[in-house]
Amino acid sequence: MQLVTTVAAMQRLALRWRTQNLRVGFVPTMGYLHDGHLSLVRRARQAVGAKGRIVVSIYVNPSQFGPKEDLSRYPRDFARDRKLCREAGVDVLFAPADGEMYPPGFSTWVNEEVLSLDLEGRSRPGHFRGVTTVVAKLFNIVLPHVAVFGAKDFQQAAVVRRMVRDLNFPLKLIVAPTRRETDGLALSSRNKYLTPAQRPQALALRHAIDTARRAVAARAVPAARLIAQLTKQMTQHPDARVDYLAFFDPETLASATTVSRGTHMALAVFVGKTRLIDNARL
Ligand code: PAJ
Repeated sequence: MQLVTTVAAMQRLALRWRTQNLRVGFVPTMGYLHDGHLSLVRRARQAVGAKGRIVVSIYVNPSQFGPKEDLSRYPRDFARDRKLCREAGVDVLFAPADGEMYPPGFSTWVNEEVLSLDLEGRSRPGHFRGVTTVVAKLFNIVLPHVAVFGAKDFQQAAVVRRMVRDLNFPLKLIVAPTRRETDGLALSSRNKYLTPAQRPQALALRHAIDTARRAVAARAVPAARLIAQLTKQMTQHPDARVDYLAFFDPETLASATTVSRGTHMALAVFVGKTRLIDNARL
């Protein structure tokens, strides 16, 4: 596995692969890898085949963090990530330094203006502008045929899909399912922040999804009633505080007034100071 740390070297390599007709699969990450990330690598390999090339990027993108968010303490373990990538059959690990991605005078941004407004976009102003900008840059640097994203960040995948369509990126986007711990907690680099006392309370997200699923199994339910029920259930977890809880159409992300099977659910919950997100099709 090759480690590439400059934009110029990555782009040169990507252009060479293109002339050699090699298919390129790409998995962008912020590192501190877990099996959710590695499942995307496996999916990318499946998409490009044994002869294809797999690039994983590790870059904690400052522009998608708010001023009061966890940029400076975002977990990092580059040596471990590098080993995991090598073992997973990654061909190139692209890990650019900050100065590479945002040189002095950087002033061009990519903004999706509909799907990114609600949910994470409302709670984290500027977040998706940072995501779309860095992902567009990474696509231009890695020149992938296929890019794989996780359903764990459902709105992110929807926003990137829209950007790919609207800006005509010549690549195929694949969204792979959320990987979970055996008890149902979605894998996340941020789970590391949870104390042993908080860890069981992180199941509040999974419980909310399970309850909603049961509630709509037989018939449609008004969203307001379900939100009230789930917010009450959340109080069983003393350190959990709901940031948002939403029901919406999985394609348009338009909010649903009645919830039935097939409606999408997403939620963000603070467990102590740690903000966790999850989502599911009901
Ligand atoms: P990061 O949080 O590191 O996630 C990288 C990719 O892994 C995303 O596509 C995310 O949806 C996926 N992922 C995370 N947890 C997962 C899980 N439990 N199961 C399946 N996939 C999972 O998302 C980002 O980084 C950044 O916003 C990025 C796209 C890299 C832009 O900076």
